[in-house]
Amino acid sequence: MSQLTVILLAAGQGTRMKSQLPKVLHPAAGRPLLYYPLFAAFEAGADEAVIVSSGRPEIERELRRLFPDKPIRFAVQDVPRGTGDAVRVGLEHVTSERVLIVCGDTPLLAAADLRELVGLLEREPGRDLGVMTCLLDEPSGYGRMLRDERGELLEIREHRDLQSAEQRAVREVNAGMYVGRTVALKAAVAELSPNNAQGEYYFTDVVRWFGGRRAGSVQGSPDALVGVNDRHQLRAAENQLFERIRQRHALAGVTVRGEVLIDDSVQLEQDVVLEHGVRLRGQTRIARGAFVDVGCVLTDVSVGEGAELKPYSVMSASSVGARVQIGPFSHLRPESQIDDEAHIGNFVETKKTRVRRGAKANHLAYLGDADVGERSNIGAGTIVCNYDGYQKHRTQIGADVFIGSDSQLVAPIRIGNNAFIATATTVTKDVPDDALAIGRVSQETKLGYAPRLKARLKAAKEAKK
Ligand code: UD1
Ligand code: MG
Repeated sequence: MSQLTVILLAAGQGTRMKSQLPKVLHPAAGRPLLYYPLFAAFEAGADEAVIVSSGRPEIERELRRLFPDKPIRFAVQDVPRGTGDAVRVGLEHVTSERVLIVCGDTPLLAAADLRELVGLLEREPGRDLGVMTCLLDEPSGYGRMLRDERGELLEIREHRDLQSAEQRAVREVNAGMYVGRTVALKAAVAELSPNNAQGEYYFTDVVRWFGGRRAGSVQGSPDALVGVNDRHQLRAAENQLFERIRQRHALAGVTVRGEVLIDDSVQLEQDVVLEHGVRLRGQTRIARGAFVDVGCVLTDVSVGEGAELKPYSVMSASSVGARVQIGPFSHLRPESQIDDEAHIGNFVETKKTRVRRGAKANHLAYLGDADVGERSNIGAGTIVCNYDGYQKHRTQIGADVFIGSDSQLVAPIRIGNNAFIATATTVTKDVPDDALAIGRVSQETKLGYAPRLKARLKAAKEAKK
């Protein structure tokens, strides 16, 4: 049975995002906003979740994808009547003894702070509620913690409902994260009423209803308050996430130079070096000692040990083996597999192609739906003609093959081991092992003809003037 349920509040309208996408699904550092507080809650010991949302189906779909192994239930708050109403709706789905309440739009919330908060109910068994607080120099806008002379919490009063300069000067604010005993909270939220400046059900009113001593507090980092309401705030929060991620990798032995943007989901091993302007996205994984030079963009790419990715290479949904060299300016499109020690050079594009161990395509080539055997060499300007306008066809190149520059391989085609394709050949028939294929117009050389030709061309130009 569940011990601790987290209720995630995400039924706000998010109007200021000016977007078709629900606010909590906007990505920050590669994950939807609501991933972060929910992940922190699971880290802090929650073993199931109840998501209170407006019922948009995308939210459920996305959460099932993000947390496939976690029990997650969905509660719908059809009209946002305030946080008190949202918690009440969520509590209807809670059967565990204790409940943790967090907001869906606070991506910087730290798991350590939540763990502290959860611990409050054990440390202070007389309490039914624990509130996470923050000390702010500029508390304006937040609910204030109002206490008696002994320091016991009397109530949380929203900024708009404050009545004196003394109250407005209180720097201790409510972070909007709570832990509580389910039975006590269910009783309390049933008694809430919307008698306040905004005409909303305030969850914070349960503190007054409990009356002294039953509500305690834990002070957390002000990061918990970094909320996202518009895209400017999204940018600010994401920048902080990126900085945290860079710091995490740097402390784990990755050299990060200049401005590098790494998604939260990316995995990097020791002695990886990332130069300025690198962007790593999605499920990208980079093994020990790989070097990623300026401006590379990797999306869902795995890179082997000691690989060298030269500047401005763009790669997606592909894998690169150990000690491979890529770039500068290479383009690996989805399902490219570059085996150990292979080289892919400038202006080479690959798609659904395997380049086996030690093979090289160093300059200006297109390799689509192809398999290039070990140690084979693809000359400059080689094009695999894989598409006939309707279907894609495969090209099979054996081991130790030499493809001369400016060749076209018209797929489907098979080139045997150790074959030799002469420069500028258009290959339309299979080439057996050890064969030479040559298919080009034979050359004529006319001795002494060049000066005569030039004179004729010059005269023609002059005649036109
Ligand atoms: C709330 C607190 C305030 C605290 C602040 C911290 C109350 C009454 N006030 O104020 O003391 O200082 O957070 O950020 O709780 N939500 C719903 N349904 C609703 C209303 C809100 O799901 O009907 C969700 C929102 O999506 C959001 C969270 O609850 O994730 C907090 O709501 P918000 O409107 O931001 O509360 P604040 O006014 O900021
Ligand atoms: Mg808020």
